[in-house]
Amino acid sequence: MPPSDPLWIFGYGSLVWRPAFEHTERRPARIEGWRRRFWQGSTDHRGVPGRPGRVVTLERNSAGLCDGVAYKVAPAAAEAVLETLDHREKGGYRRHRVAASLAGEPEHRVPALLYVATADNEDYLGPASTGAIVEQVLASRGPSGTNVEYVLELAAALRALGAEDGHVFEIEALVRQQLDRAGTGVRNPRPAPARS
Ligand code: SIN
Repeated sequence: MPPSDPLWIFGYGSLVWRPAFEHTERRPARIEGWRRRFWQGSTDHRGVPGRPGRVVTLERNSAGLCDGVAYKVAPAAAEAVLETLDHREKGGYRRHRVAASLAGEPEHRVPALLYVATADNEDYLGPASTGAIVEQVLASRGPSGTNVEYVLELAAALRALGAEDGHVFEIEALVRQQLDRAGTGVRNPRPAPARS
């Protein structure tokens, strides 16, 4: 990519609701051929070593669509932004190139970078029943906050985008149900600013 081209970052997890890096544009966007799943273990943000939380990664799926956000980064800021993100996503995620279509312009695809955690990283947890995922979410917290907060923030941000994601919304609904049962229902999904 010529150094004068802007960099686009596609976010589908915490990067949707807390980018925390310099950007000049934020556009709802979609990628094809991938689906979002709570299959990555988090030992550095939403869990700790030995007691990982569950956060999202992407799985290849020929019919899959994943809605998220594309951020445009000015060429002058690109190196620093990538350094920040490489550090933030160091718990098993690697950079990957995709074509993202920007909302309102389905024919306009931009080359974008995203961070994906594949099955070969040591924190990868893989598929589990929805019930097991929810239990793990309810039990986990790490340096960036609770795993519950990650789920609720992500679901709220996807809803604000008008995005469909049955997997995320099902887990959110079950988490809320359990919190209500325990009498700790969260009315405000943004209780405190989190770091990732
Ligand atoms: C992303 O948000 O795009 C990557 C996964 C995460 O940080 O939650």
